[in-house]
Amino acid sequence: MSSPAAAVRAAEPDSLGSPSMDDGQLSPVLAGKKALVIGIANEDSIAYGCAKAFRSVGADLAISWLNEKARAFVEPLAQELGASITAPVDVSIPGQLEAMFDRVRSQWGRLDILVHSIAFAPKQDLQGGLLDCSAEGFAKAMDISCHSFVRMAKLAAPLMPAGGAMFAMSYYGANRVVPNYNVMGPVKAALEAVCRYLAYELGPREIRVHAISPGPLKTRAASGLKHFELMLNEAAHKAPLGELVDIMDIGYACVYLATPFARRITGELVYVDGGANLVA
Ligand SMILES: NC(=O)c1ccc[n+]([C@@H]2O[C@H](COP(=O)([O-])OP(=O)(O)OC[C@H]3O[C@@H](n4cnc5c(N)ncnc54)[C@H](O)[C@@H]3O)[C@@H](O)[C@H]2O)c1
Repeated sequence: MSSPAAAVRAAEPDSLGSPSMDDGQLSPVLAGKKALVIGIANEDSIAYGCAKAFRSVGADLAISWLNEKARAFVEPLAQELGASITAPVDVSIPGQLEAMFDRVRSQWGRLDILVHSIAFAPKQDLQGGLLDCSAEGFAKAMDISCHSFVRMAKLAAPLMPAGGAMFAMSYYGANRVVPNYNVMGPVKAALEAVCRYLAYELGPREIRVHAISPGPLKTRAASGLKHFELMLNEAAHKAPLGELVDIMDIGYACVYLATPFARRITGELVYVDGGANLVA
């Protein structure tokens, strides 16, 4: 089957925009780029590490919070990072995601970077085995943690006429059975497949899509997993680099993949886990 990029482009030296690979403009490498980061709950959030990393290399930020309760924690972080756009986004409330993208369109007129760093499963469905997960719980986990990325990509792509980069957060439990990861295993496996298919469909528009697979980090979402401490201990023990990752490691991996230095890389599953995934 032929690729959607029917007319295959010849390699262009600067096809993702300035700075080009050889003009020496290394800092700040994403100056003026527009980044929408969805998924900050507090200062432990992976999304906060991503927002902070993008800001540190010059990007302008749009940041969301889940609801009024979350706003109290997220708004000060958004202010600290000088976010130009802030708004509530609960992806399960029809219209909120669309409203955020309307703000991006009217205020920025374009978008360069999208970070999806959200996940949810109802507690009783998450903490039992997969066999005991209800159909409703499975569908809810899949909708919020996976299909919402498809919806975001659809809204973001028209705002990326000169190309862009999109990221979604996965986990090792997508590919190997991790005890207690339960329904999130199949959900993350679907999310990784979504990233590959979006990379295929959006590649002809120079939009690159990656799944990032962080090692375990103590965050609010992780606290919903049974025996999470065991996962942390195992990851620290297994990682060839000998220590756990932090949220800035995830952020800087995304920064690199969003720069022109990574312009020919798309559809990857990138582990940021100190190498733990290599070890049986
Ligand atoms: N913490 C880890 O060990 C780890 C490891 C690998 C991958 N991840 C993934 O990283 C991502 C971020 O999680 P985190 O660990 O930073 O935890 P977190 O609790 O800080 O972030 C999860 C976010 O999901 C958001 N969210 C939940 N339901 C939502 C909805 N309906 N609409 C919009 N947002 C919603 C929450 O508001 C929160 O901001 C998740 O996809 C998670 O599965 C986490």
